Amino acid sequence: MLVLGIESSCDETALALVRDGVDVVGSLVASQTAVHAKFGGVVPEVAAREHLKVIAPMFRELMRTTSARSQDIDLVAVTQGPGLIGAILVGVAYAKGVALALHRPLIPVDHVHAHVHGALLGISGAEQPQFPTLALVVSGGHTNLYYMQSPTHFQLLACSIDDACGECFDKVAKLLGLGYPGGPRIEALAQQGRVDAVTMPRMVSQKSRLEFSYSGLKTFVANHLRQVGQVTEQDRADLCASFQAEALGQIVRKVQEAVRLFPEARSVLVAGGVAANQTFRRMMADQISLPSFFPKLDYCSDNAAMIAAYGFHIYQNQPEDRAAWLRHNWDAYSRYDFAKALNATSSAT
Ligand code: KG4
Ligand code: ZN
Repeated sequence: MLVLGIESSCDETALALVRDGVDVVGSLVASQTAVHAKFGGVVPEVAAREHLKVIAPMFRELMRTTSARSQDIDLVAVTQGPGLIGAILVGVAYAKGVALALHRPLIPVDHVHAHVHGALLGISGAEQPQFPTLALVVSGGHTNLYYMQSPTHFQLLACSIDDACGECFDKVAKLLGLGYPGGPRIEALAQQGRVDAVTMPRMVSQKSRLEFSYSGLKTFVANHLRQVGQVTEQDRADLCASFQAEALGQIVRKVQEAVRLFPEARSVLVAGGVAANQTFRRMMADQISLPSFFPKLDYCSDNAAMIAAYGFHIYQNQPEDRAAWLRHNWDAYSRYDFAKALNATSSAT
């Protein structure tokens, strides 16, 4: 089954064709980072207009580069949320247009859950992770830990009570004058630094043993820089190495705890921008007793292949919703109980 995925929830316009939820036939991503750079952050109205500008040419480009014909598309999956509503509306409206023209079902997809499917792309049959599994989404906006009984079942075990992990990388990078995005720059500089150079504070959980917290770490770095005043290049590298080890170490400790609490879990899926970090990959391999699955680098940050892959699994798992998806009668604003909505419509007619 060939699925067209469309993503436009923030500052990346992405379209992809994925076969059977796993084989990427083609994937295009247009980043708006340069457009927003002069504003110091993503401007929602500008983001929506940029999506509008590129989405139709990108669809044509995807069809041209993959030599696919539009009739070959069996299903359309699109990000419904969370994200910037103006930006999402562009993707949903375009996806509805394609689905309507081809008379194909249109599947609404949760962007954060979809990230997890980035870790499964390109993994063939026997190599696929077994469920139940633990899953992490570690990005600029989320630090979420899930228990999953199947590819479409997400039980949120914990999230961050303040900043997200990637957000903390970005804020610390800003304090160090490294620019945006902070994660890759901290990772690069950390290679020249000593992990044990600066003793970082450890998050103390008040409520749950699994929840995350990053604002204390950021505040510590800010105070540390104020206290020491002038820093050399080696000091900055040391700070990056020490910070990175604790920021990622916190996640590894929580996963160790989750593995203990959920002994039936067979693997750990790791996704989101921070999953691109090579030190993180090594730490998970060395310190977690279960096999960890990370996305290929192209599928760590926002992309549409993960949307198409997750859309495929949703379609397979919810046959009761297929009729509603074919009618495209859902919108970008609401989470729909499709079967219920359809029953209500049919009993009213
Ligand atoms: O998933 P993503 O592309 O976008 C969303 O936030 O949805 O994640 C971006 C985040 C940024 O905070 C960025 O600094 C972080 O991922 N990141 C990294 C690395 N590459 C990106 N953090 C640590 N190490 C990296 N190599
Ligand atoms: Zn994302």
